[in-house]
Amino acid sequence: MTILIKGGTVVSSTGRTVADVLVDGESVVAVLAPGSTLLGHDLAASVETVIDATGKYVIPGGIDAHTHMQLPFGGTEASDTFETGTIAAAWGGTTSIIDFAVQKAGERVEDGLAAWHDKARGNCAVDYGFHQIIGGVDEQSLKAMETLVDEGITSYKMFMAYPGVFYATDDQILRAMQKARELGLMTMMHAENGPVIDVLAEQLYNAGKTTPYFHGIARAWQMEEEATHRAIMLAHLTDAPLYVVHVSAKQAVEQLAAARDRGQNVFGETCPQYLYLSLEEQLGATGDPTWGDFEGAKWVCSTPLRSRAEGHQDAMWQGLRTNDLQMVSTDHCPFCMKDQKELGRGDFRAIPNGIGSIEHRMDLLYQGVVTGQISLERWVELTSTTPARMFGLYGKKGVIAPGADADIVVYDPAGHTSIGVGKTHHMAMDHSAWEGYEIDGHVDVVISRGSVLVSDGAFHGRAGHGQYLKRGLTQYLV
Ligand code: URP
Ligand code: ZN
Ligand code: ZN
Repeated sequence: MTILIKGGTVVSSTGRTVADVLVDGESVVAVLAPGSTLLGHDLAASVETVIDATGKYVIPGGIDAHTHMQLPFGGTEASDTFETGTIAAAWGGTTSIIDFAVQKAGERVEDGLAAWHDKARGNCAVDYGFHQIIGGVDEQSLKAMETLVDEGITSYKMFMAYPGVFYATDDQILRAMQKARELGLMTMMHAENGPVIDVLAEQLYNAGKTTPYFHGIARAWQMEEEATHRAIMLAHLTDAPLYVVHVSAKQAVEQLAAARDRGQNVFGETCPQYLYLSLEEQLGATGDPTWGDFEGAKWVCSTPLRSRAEGHQDAMWQGLRTNDLQMVSTDHCPFCMKDQKELGRGDFRAIPNGIGSIEHRMDLLYQGVVTGQISLERWVELTSTTPARMFGLYGKKGVIAPGADADIVVYDPAGHTSIGVGKTHHMAMDHSAWEGYEIDGHVDVVISRGSVLVSDGAFHGRAGHGQYLKRGLTQYLV
């Protein structure tokens, strides 16, 4: 298939220019001055498909580097399959995901990884890679880390939270970071002090404070700041690069900024929910008559939504501008209210943690361009180029240039997107965490490796189009 995307403004992380983009097969082959011929050939007459992008932005396909399809968690399983989740991703302009394969204490890393390949293989509508969760650090899992790079898995996640589930102690973290330093792996950290949070949560529950709001109170920002600092110090000690996932506390950003100012290879990701949503408005919500004071369960995730009065959301936007935070991923971990979030009615501790956003990340971040929070170029950098560089995909992904995969989104700044169930909602969830959000822009066309997945408001892709991404080592270290 040959495609000419004509007359659009091609936006990269470093600039924008009006250009035509020529795609042949799965790759971009040329970025040309508008109306160019190629060796005398009128391109528009020579290609199979012409896409008029006049007045629109032409950007590299989004890369969501933090998703959890079909994750068994909180006594249930995340409701998007690799098929439904990646179709939703495509609708929203995301053409690659990196999901988390899971190993738990007592299990073999190889088995966890094989299980994740089995879930994803043949089912994805967009390209997919894996990080490896090491939920049980022991001699066997440390040894197994040595095989990950050959598998194309160059990053792994540990948890300072969730005692009894994925939790790692400081000595375990130290050992894993030493191994990661040796292998060149990126350590991804869920930085919250789980044991302290569990005590606070129990005390709140025993005091009759059982609604979703208290999930946010129990998971105090002090315990995110403390864990972030501890992770940074362990990374410093071991000289291992560190990537802190789902940062939500302004004090955690301050810790990252201080470490980066010292020259440490420390990075931070935030998520749309921490930019827009809050403890007061969402976790404390009671407006949905079906759910009453349990409505906040829709937004129970960890790290939690934080107080707007305390300024955390503004600090996340600021961190994105100053590059103290480098990326925006979704931490897509959807659960329905019915039968899933409901498990925690009467006890916020039993609400499965997670929010579904994979479909809306590009739009929600673009709204930050509209409101002046970030530049157009920074939008591309945060959602595509840096994820590619951070996780060893750059060159093929994250850029529109000859030789790159033709993963391209045509985005219409004059378009409009109304988010919500029955409007733009392809995720396997019975509600939207983003119900009622209005976006001054629209994902018009989505192309993945030269195949048009979305155009004219219709999905043309298929489960099985998405290929496994064997990733290289991070390309982002200072
Ligand atoms: O609430 C969340 N974040 N659920 C997914 C698991 C994790 O910690 O990333
Ligand atoms: Zn986490
Ligand atoms: Zn996560």
